[in-house]
This record gives sequence, C-alpha cells and structure tokens, in this order.
Amino acid sequence: PAPLRVAVLGCGVVGTEVVRRLLEHTAEFSARTGADLELSGIAVRTLTTPRDPVVPTDLLTDDAAGLVAGADLLVEVMGGIEPARTLILDALRAGVSVITANKALLAQHGPELYEAADAAHVDLFYEAAVAGAVPVVRGVRESLAGDRINRILGIVNGTTNYILDEMTTNELDFGAALAQAQELGYAEADPTADVEGLDAAAKAAILASLAFHSRIALADVSVQGITQITPADIASAAQTGHVIKLLAVAEQRRDGAGQGGGVAVRVYPALVPAEHPLGNVRGPFNAVLVEAEAAGTLMFYGAGAGGAATSSAVLGDLVAAARHRVSGGKSPSESRYADLTRLGADEI
Ligand code: HSE
Repeated sequence: PAPLRVAVLGCGVVGTEVVRRLLEHTAEFSARTGADLELSGIAVRTLTTPRDPVVPTDLLTDDAAGLVAGADLLVEVMGGIEPARTLILDALRAGVSVITANKALLAQHGPELYEAADAAHVDLFYEAAVAGAVPVVRGVRESLAGDRINRILGIVNGTTNYILDEMTTNELDFGAALAQAQELGYAEADPTADVEGLDAAAKAAILASLAFHSRIALADVSVQGITQITPADIASAAQTGHVIKLLAVAEQRRDGAGQGGGVAVRVYPALVPAEHPLGNVRGPFNAVLVEAEAAGTLMFYGAGAGGAATSSAVLGDLVAAARHRVSGGKSPSESRYADLTRLGADEI
C-alpha cells in the first residue's frame, strides 16, 4: 500500500518522543501496520524555539491547517482547547484518523469530536489522555465492553502523586516537590491544572464516560486539589497508618434491581491505608482500580506521565489507526496477519 502520511501537532515533551520513536523504529512500524508511516511534518507555534536534535528542522512548519490537510493520520500533542479542537474537527471531517493526548479537550468537547469521528467512519483514539502509558482507556473501552462497570478508583495524575510522595518520603515542602516534578517533565505547562485537581478531573470524566456509556464533562466532576495539603496533614495521616493520595472516583449508582441510576465523579485528597494497593503507588506512577460486575476488581498500573511513557500510548494508537487504514477499517486481526506475512513468518 501507499505510505501513510503522519502529521504531528506539537513538539513538546511528548511530541519530541513521538517523533524520536517514529523515526528510529521506522521498519518496525511498517512491519506492524503493513504500510510505511511517513512523518509528513510537525506543526509548532514558533519555528525558532531550540529543539532536541532528533527533530528534523525541515519537517517543522507553523502552518498546522496546511499540514493536517495533506495527512492520513494526525497525532495531536499540542494541548489546549484551540486551535486543537478546530484542527481535529477539520481532520476528522476530511477523513483523517486522529490520535490525541488532549484530556482537557476531550473532557470539554468529547461528544462533538466522537460524533465527527463516527460520521466520517474514522478512528479517534486517546489512550495517552488518561494515565500515560497505562492502557486503561482500551481496557475500559474494549476489554470490558461486555461487562458492567460499577466503580473506578484511581490515581491519575503523576505530578500530584510525585509531590505527595516526596512530601511523605523525603519531607519536602509542596513548592520544592512541585519544582522537581516540573523539572522531570511530569507537570503540565501550567501546573495549576495538576495541583488543583483539574487534570485528574478531566481524566476522570473521560474514564467515567467510557465506563458508564454516558457523557460526563469536566463540569460534572466535583474537584478538590492538593494545594492546601501541609506536611502536618501528611504526618498526622501517617500516625494512623495512612497516606494522602489524590483520588479520582467515578461511581454508577444502581437501584436494588441493578438498574443504573446517576453517575457520581469526584477528585479529592483521600486518606488511603498505607497497605492498600493505591497507597503503594509511588512517584509519578498511576494506578486505576476498575470494579466490574463479572470481571471483579482489575488494577491498571504504570507510568502515568513523562514524554517517553506517554509516547508509547500515542504510538500504540497510531499503530491501531494505521492497521485500520490498511485493512479498510475492518478488524485489526487482518493487520496482524499482514504483520506475519511481511515478516516472512509461517502462517498460522
Ligand atoms: N501532568 C500530567 C500528570 C501528565 O502529571 O499526570 C500526564 O497526563
């Protein structure tokens, strides 16, 4: 098949890692998808910003709309609502499959984007929007699609978990721990969204919408951040064997007959027993417990922030979307078959 042109919007911490892996593992991407993935350009706000040498200067452009118009697959890692929203909608309407890491956009304008993708019969994938590398979106969206989810309980913001962990383990104060999280690339450009709980709330809204097959927006989530947590709070929690964790909790209320009622979603600093699985989640790691009727309780755990880890989720989505392109939007099993053929492996 013809090469698939991949346009990337944004070249920050995540964008740079996506570009690096895409360029360094070209042959693997071709083998896994059945088509060559050709990086057609990287749209940035300012062309002159100094960048990692892995980013080819001749692929940079400040004409995002022009880049999208010539793409088969679009990776949006620029963040923010506009112009990301308009660029994604234009792409979907033009038949371009979209991979986005933009939790704020999905939590505010998800329904509009999902409908545009459905109408154009193209993919809109967003594994990287929740819990970085941890495949919880696909888990809830696909693996548990045949079950009934009752509750989701998780740590979905790496920055605040890192801060609370540093405050607990190394007795740092809030400001020093935040500065370290920013230096390590975990925090958003403006860390207010992290520490005020809004980043976790956006992720909770996305997971709750998928889990409960409903439309839950950021505005539906009750949010309390960690800016008021003091070393004294942490010490007093420790005295009773607890740690303080910023939890996202989404719950489907059911009546006595098991019928679904309302959905409650909130983000708040909770006292978690130190020996609880969520009490042991360290540093920038994330963990999501999913309680389902038939599956029981599942735990999704791993790196929730950071450029390399998040790029794994973006690229996994890119492979899935490319396989759909190659197989004409049919089941991915056909593209797995294509893999084996290209690699010269025995047919099974
Ligand atoms: N700022 C986010 C976090 C990045 O700390 O979890 C991943 O979404």
